[in-house]
Amino acid sequence: MGEIILKNINKTFGNTKVLEDLNLKINDGEFAVLVGASGCGKTTLLRIIAGIGPATSGELFIDGEEVSDLAPGKRNIAMVFQNYAIYPNMTVKGNIEFGLKNNHVPKAERERLIAEVAESVGLTEYLKRKPNALSGGQRQRVALARAMVKNPKVFLMDEPLSNLDAKLRVAMRSELIELHNKLKTTFVYVTHDQVEAMSMADTIILMNKGVIQQQASPEVIYDDPNNVFTAQFIGTPSMNILPLKNGSFVGYRPEKVGLTPEETEAFYKVRGRIITREMLGSETLYKVQIISGEHQNETVMVKSLDSGFQEGQDAWVQVALKHLYFFDGKEQRIREADRAEDYGACVRCLKGEEA
Ligand SMILES: Nc1ncnc2c1ncn2[C@@H]1O[C@H](COP(=O)(O)OP(=O)(O)OP(=O)(O)O)[C@@H](O)[C@H]1O
Ligand SMILES: [Mg+2]
Repeated sequence: MGEIILKNINKTFGNTKVLEDLNLKINDGEFAVLVGASGCGKTTLLRIIAGIGPATSGELFIDGEEVSDLAPGKRNIAMVFQNYAIYPNMTVKGNIEFGLKNNHVPKAERERLIAEVAESVGLTEYLKRKPNALSGGQRQRVALARAMVKNPKVFLMDEPLSNLDAKLRVAMRSELIELHNKLKTTFVYVTHDQVEAMSMADTIILMNKGVIQQQASPEVIYDDPNNVFTAQFIGTPSMNILPLKNGSFVGYRPEKVGLTPEETEAFYKVRGRIITREMLGSETLYKVQIISGEHQNETVMVKSLDSGFQEGQDAWVQVALKHLYFFDGKEQRIREADRAEDYGACVRCLKGEEA
């Protein structure tokens, strides 16, 4: 068990509001990823859940129980920190054993737990080593093992992979997914890396300046963003966003553009000129300047499987209606399903008809 509910959480440091009226539910057993730019309040939120940096106001429930006044040690939560603090003068085994000794777990039980946890994170053959004789990834696993051995109902992880090089990070990512599948415990994982978030999460919680922008599965966050912020945070390069004459915005993802020498029947089409071309292997990234219509001189990014376009060449930039997103003047999404009139107005505006 490990369902987490936050209700109307506020957190201020002096005069600075860091979290404002935050509401959140994380289901039992879910791999939740909290993502957002540096300083948006991720660590602050994690510390509130862990009980090491209480909220200024609001309520926190774990498995239906109000725990705001419960000591961190009593919450059955383990936290892996941004700079995993493992003890350099203790062996791997000593590091994993430390918390168990503190909790007066009997020796035989300790041995059994250490063996089990070491096995599951692949540290069995390193138990006698000191941390300075381990790689970054192995040290990371020690920090994980130390959290796991307490058998918590919730794991909080604050950018646990940030000290690893890119290749190791990718490897550890899939190890964490496997670990989660095995443990079936609630994970709350913090990162500022959208790719990490997309690849690991059951549910993504996207934050900006202490406010949750959207909580949804990676598929929904990508396909059905609530606002311009979410649309542009997820996906590389970012979604193209262009202003419409009626004060709204139209958006389309670089990978949904058809770039063709000849005009086709697509709903949206403008002439463009290739400004830069970056061949990335399977795909090619083009920066394209629009040279016709109301968005003349604006540039958009296009990701194409066709590497054949050259800088200076002209082409058609085309997008199907189903791949266009509309946002209002407050940068909130206009969905056809719930704002049919506004949606229709944007479609007509884009077509150059009276809005
Ligand atoms: N003890 C503190 N006193 C004053 N301000 C603080 C304190 N701790 C955090 N803050 C401020 O609160 C805001 C949120 O900080 P937090 O550490 O939660 O961000 P974060 O999203 O974890 O960022 P990062 O990705 O850089 O770790 C920041 O503006 C930070 O400066
Ligand atoms: Mg942080």
